[in-house]
Amino acid sequence: MSATKGLEGIVAAESKISSIIDDTLTYVGYNIDDLADNASFEEVIYLLWHTRLPKADELAELKQQLADNMSIPQAIVDQFKTYPLSTVHPMAALRTAVSLLGVFDEEADVMDPEANYRKAIRLQAKIATVVTAFARVRKGLEPIQPKAELSYAANFLYMLKGEEPAAIEVEAFDKALVLHADHELNASTFTARVCVATLSDVYSGVTAAIGALKGPLHGGANEQVMKMLTEIGSLENVESYIQNKLDNKEKIMGFGHRVYRKGDPRAPHLRVMSQKLTELTGKPELYQMSVKIHDMIVEQKKLPANVDFFSASVYDSLGIDHDLFTPIFAVSRTSGWVAHILEQYANNRLIRPRAEYVGPGMQKYVPISER
Ligand SMILES: CC(C)(COP(=O)(O)OP(=O)(O)OC[C@H]1O[C@@H](n2cnc3c(N)ncnc32)[C@H](O)[C@@H]1OP(=O)(O)O)[C@@H](O)C(=O)NCCC(=O)NCCS
Repeated sequence: MSATKGLEGIVAAESKISSIIDDTLTYVGYNIDDLADNASFEEVIYLLWHTRLPKADELAELKQQLADNMSIPQAIVDQFKTYPLSTVHPMAALRTAVSLLGVFDEEADVMDPEANYRKAIRLQAKIATVVTAFARVRKGLEPIQPKAELSYAANFLYMLKGEEPAAIEVEAFDKALVLHADHELNASTFTARVCVATLSDVYSGVTAAIGALKGPLHGGANEQVMKMLTEIGSLENVESYIQNKLDNKEKIMGFGHRVYRKGDPRAPHLRVMSQKLTELTGKPELYQMSVKIHDMIVEQKKLPANVDFFSASVYDSLGIDHDLFTPIFAVSRTSGWVAHILEQYANNRLIRPRAEYVGPGMQKYVPISER
């Protein structure tokens, strides 16, 4: 029995939700390029949860259900106000708040498929409100109620900033949500599946997944990319900063991937958006710096950019606080986590692998007085 470090190459589940084959990402067989160019985030949620695209009335119904379920318990907002707001990371606040949503959901432990689907809708609807409410509370502002007539993407930006976003902002944000929605058996999705395979509830599965996404090797990378861009500060500093990191064998956030070899198909979409939005907001240097970093890493390390690299400058251009980048990833990925949780329940078996034991051989207990 020998271990495969990081479970690399191990096929740990069957899934109909998304696939990565030869560097092509599909959701239920639809190429991510096709979806990014044509589908709304709500359509993608439906696709992931039903493994087919919705008809017009089905999409309208889902939008209505999401709009009807966006409000969150006042107790969550009140609890935010008790946090050490100058230091707490929004991902920690989100992890706790999603757990708390489960406390307030009377159906949390009702495990039939209909109840689990209702919880999926409630969770997807409320997570946008949780993130935006926290973002406002920590600035001493009151949360903003969603507007039922706005799309999911538009509502998020509206609840965050208190003013209706421009069409181009909604378009970019919606596309970013589509691109982050699912990604086969990534670390947080696997975490969610392991959790619910014990027949634990949907809220526990998503809370566990948020904990996994938080790490800088996974969803936390987008915030780190922005930290790096901020530290570099200008185009002329890129070369020395990156070369120094490479010489010290440090990882550059936003590059490399466990599965993709030639490149992450989501990155080019975000790159185009980054160029467009940084020009519009008068910060083209951010894009130029990103391209220069990209070219250096590709040339020297042969590592392609992943989804997190250009999403950093996209979100920054939308005026979003940098530590909200990973929570936004969670808002989108909730759709994928929930799809995988429902798929796991539908054909469940406890996930319980083995470990290769590399400790000492059999030992005899020595009384504490003789050690
Ligand atoms: C994504 C990631 C965790 C995949 O990890 P992995 O498959 O376990 O690959 P490893 O970390 O073992 O890296 C393999 C080699 O590539 C190098 N490498 C991988 N990513 C690198 C990066 N971003 N910058 C510099 N070198 C990197 C490693 O140092 C290692 O080199 P070595 O063999 O000389 O020691 C890894 O590429 C990474 O840490 N990237 C940065 C974080 C990030 O952007 N995460 C978001 C992923 S969507």
